[in-house]
Amino acid sequence: MCGIIGYTGPKSVVPILIEGLKKLEYRGYDSAGVAVVNKSKIQVRRVKGKIIGLEKNLKLSPLNGSYGVGHTRWATHGRPCEENAHPHQDCTGSIVVVHNGIIENYLPLKQKLKEEGHTFCTETDTEVIAHLVEKYFQSSLEEAVQQAVQELEGAYAIAVLSTRDLGKIVAAKDGPPVVVGLGDKENFVSSDINPLLNYTQKIVFLEDGEMAVIGTQGVKFCDFKGSVLEKKVEHITWSPLMIEKGGFKHFMLKEIFEQPQVVRDTLKGRISLDSGKICLDEIGITPESLKDITRAVIIACGTSYHAGLVGKYFLETIARVPVDVEFASEYRYREFILDEKTLVIVISQSGETADSLAALRAVKEKNPVSLAICNVVNSSIPRETDGVLYTHAGPEIGVAATKTFSAQLAALALLALHLAQVKGKINEKESLSFIESLQRIPHKMENILNQAKSIEELALEFVSFSHFLYLGRGVNFPVALEGALKLKEISYIHAEGYPGGEMKHGPIALIDEKMPTMTIVPRDGVYEKMLSNISEIKTRDGYILAVAFEDDEEIKEKVDKVIPIPSVHPLFTPFLATLPLQLFAYYIASKRGADVDQPRNLAKSVTVE
Ligand code: AGP
Repeated sequence: MCGIIGYTGPKSVVPILIEGLKKLEYRGYDSAGVAVVNKSKIQVRRVKGKIIGLEKNLKLSPLNGSYGVGHTRWATHGRPCEENAHPHQDCTGSIVVVHNGIIENYLPLKQKLKEEGHTFCTETDTEVIAHLVEKYFQSSLEEAVQQAVQELEGAYAIAVLSTRDLGKIVAAKDGPPVVVGLGDKENFVSSDINPLLNYTQKIVFLEDGEMAVIGTQGVKFCDFKGSVLEKKVEHITWSPLMIEKGGFKHFMLKEIFEQPQVVRDTLKGRISLDSGKICLDEIGITPESLKDITRAVIIACGTSYHAGLVGKYFLETIARVPVDVEFASEYRYREFILDEKTLVIVISQSGETADSLAALRAVKEKNPVSLAICNVVNSSIPRETDGVLYTHAGPEIGVAATKTFSAQLAALALLALHLAQVKGKINEKESLSFIESLQRIPHKMENILNQAKSIEELALEFVSFSHFLYLGRGVNFPVALEGALKLKEISYIHAEGYPGGEMKHGPIALIDEKMPTMTIVPRDGVYEKMLSNISEIKTRDGYILAVAFEDDEEIKEKVDKVIPIPSVHPLFTPFLATLPLQLFAYYIASKRGADVDQPRNLAKSVTVE
């Protein structure tokens, strides 16, 4: 998705904008640009391609300015090219805007503005914003922006500056995120907090329908009608170091290795070890309202959807609550059969996924109890649910979700135990037994990560394959889906996840020496069934790998390669089985020279539909 950044302060603005844009690269983009104000002149520089091209361009002909804005564009309307790169200007070149989102009514707006004499230079939706601000400009930039946004339909996070009202950047939000950083005689605006952490930890999150007027002397917050707002200043504890790679080749590898700590951090402070009681008072939904819950609907996308499929097993097995798991992009258009006794759980690490947010807004008319499971404090989705259970994974920079998946599983396990206790479905002894298994998981994860080298050696045997099948059953069918997603999204190898029982219904036709199969085969209730799948594949010359418990001698005779994991309560196998699949995908993609942290065509947070 696009990224916006802005700076006002005493420092030279261009290096700050460039460094800020680099911290937004992970969002995915295809062009970039900056605009700075030098005395009373706006200077703009834009490139198609990566920020390094913009840096080269600026080295050849530097820009100087006292304040400015920058942008990384992920094309939605208009080809990725220099002309369509932001910032965009009005007719006079005295107003510039950078934008994240989609203006759905830009065509009629553009037509009307053209009839009023405005001339357009780009194919983008964004340019209409610059011309609307020009149309309404009298003396105050913020008032012109307030007028302009009244005409916009769609989603937008914008930053606007003008030489006609010097010394300020005006930001406005309706949809994608906008955060304001409050520094010492310097202030910032950005799409997320990562670019700001080197300068300040004092952050204000704009809500939909809010604006910020950012100057060096301070920041004024107001709504789209101009009424002044008092906004809470959050103190963000994420250190800049957490954002850096910490010596790993890629953010993704660093984040894979952070998973034991992430599970510990997500469990921390939420379990009382002596009584086995789960303490989730923070979620903002009382035990009384949870007690009445008769079913749950989990809504999510991508990896978060896979976490939801695992969560279904946790909630149904531990809390005895029936669960439906739905793709947000599909469910949002359905006829909802929900009521106030339904718990709608929206799982989203970014809290900004457009389809998940839209599905949440759609279901609210049925008055369910809504809970977000989210990794980014105060992001859009948790701001619109009744309650939120935050995962404590820290910032996830790699586009491929890894540590946030494990954190989501930990959060779902806590929620299942909490719901079971509130509804009287488990006693203290059963709670303690589940909690003891949960508490042991981080150490078991560390054991798996300690064999990363052997997983790397195994992975390198498959670098040139073009297809892969992943099989799992029960709570490990979602693990098969997640393993396949990891491989396909970072190595571009086609991979499919299937429930083992489905093999005979089609996929077995795919088996030959060019279609290896990765199986997840813990010693659980479907172990024998998985062995039958394995022998069916073996008799058709399929190559088989198995993620299996390390003390399982039988499996070694049945498959070509075993990836051992420590044994664990069968329900919690996904915490462990997923790690080797993440590493397997990572090492293949890295060896293939893929852009592991920013895979082609993908964005970290899909904030447009
Ligand atoms: C997974 O590796 C991808 N990054 C993607 O599928 C992601 O899980 C999906 O877009 C949902 O994102 P969210 O958790 O931020 O809502």
